[in-house]
Amino acid sequence: MYVCHCNVVTDRDVLESIANGARCVADVARETGAGRTCGNCISSLRELVCQHCPVGAERRTEEHAAERELGVAGAAR
Ligand code: FES
Repeated sequence: MYVCHCNVVTDRDVLESIANGARCVADVARETGAGRTCGNCISSLRELVCQHCPVGAERRTEEHAAERELGVAGAAR
């Protein structure tokens, strides 16, 4: 299933990114290119990361700052 239509990224791509060490949305965006155009997929990316990433909730706050630095669309939402 496509998660990011703008950049043609699937849920499998995101899960593979997490399996390869991505620990936040910014990591997934950096590795897959997802989330860097319109930003409509950010909530889906965040949901996948929260469901499948082993890192705790405190890391989520840090990820928002990294998303803004990286220019991930919709990071301020
Ligand atoms: S759907 Fe992912 S950036 Fe547009």
